[in-house]
Amino acid sequence: VDTELLSPSISGFLKKYTNDDSSEMEAYSVINKIPFTGRMTGDFLSFMVKLLKPCMLLEIGTGIGFSTKKMCISTDCKIISIDSNRQRVEVAKDFLKEHRQVELQHVKAQHFLKETDHKFDFVFVDSTKNFYPLVWNYLKNRLMDKAIVIFDDIFLYGLVSYEDAEIPYKYKEQTKNLRLFIDEIMYDEELNSTILPIGNGLLLVNYSCKS
Ligand SMILES: C[S@@+](CC[C@H](N)C(=O)[O-])C[C@H]1O[C@@H](n2cnc3c(N)ncnc32)[C@H](O)[C@@H]1O
Repeated sequence: VDTELLSPSISGFLKKYTNDDSSEMEAYSVINKIPFTGRMTGDFLSFMVKLLKPCMLLEIGTGIGFSTKKMCISTDCKIISIDSNRQRVEVAKDFLKEHRQVELQHVKAQHFLKETDHKFDFVFVDSTKNFYPLVWNYLKNRLMDKAIVIFDDIFLYGLVSYEDAEIPYKYKEQTKNLRLFIDEIMYDEELNSTILPIGNGLLLVNYSCKS
């Protein structure tokens, strides 16, 4: 399945404007076939963090820390980044050792969100897409008023737009769940939310405690 929704000529054109500070991590991810957000999403996260100046940031799905690095170069705020894959957390610790504001935890999102006392004003969610509804349910209690939550890969390589019969079997369940999740968020009139066609699609929610 193609993961690149942007035409190659446009992504080529944009390459020269992207910050190169994470190129070592990018290379490591590509060589070891570890998924990461990609430069466009990384640069967007960097921009948003600089703009919004959060005081407590949570990332769900560290991988080896590509997106974590993109965010921490734009802020001094505390960043908790969690991942259920121990090996990746260890690699991320090494890549991010100079960034003392980052606390990396090897834990499942569901457990972390149930146990933590922290509240967050900026959250980037990039874990298994099937869990987005569950993560959102737990996450709501852990958000400050006006928090921003960004869900990655909301287009699932473009599959959410395919006819059902065209979706490869192994992605059918995930696609169905992701579509339901997008509906849940986008049709909730109390929520301020939008979808941006950046990378593999970003779903942004500006949470209000009254919603
Ligand atoms: C796409 S990768 C993250 C990439 C990372 N954001 C980056 O740009 O480098 C998704 C990560 O989510 C982790 N993950 C999946 N389900 C999880 C869960 N329920 N709780 C915590 N981490 C989870 C996986 O182990 C995987 O490393």
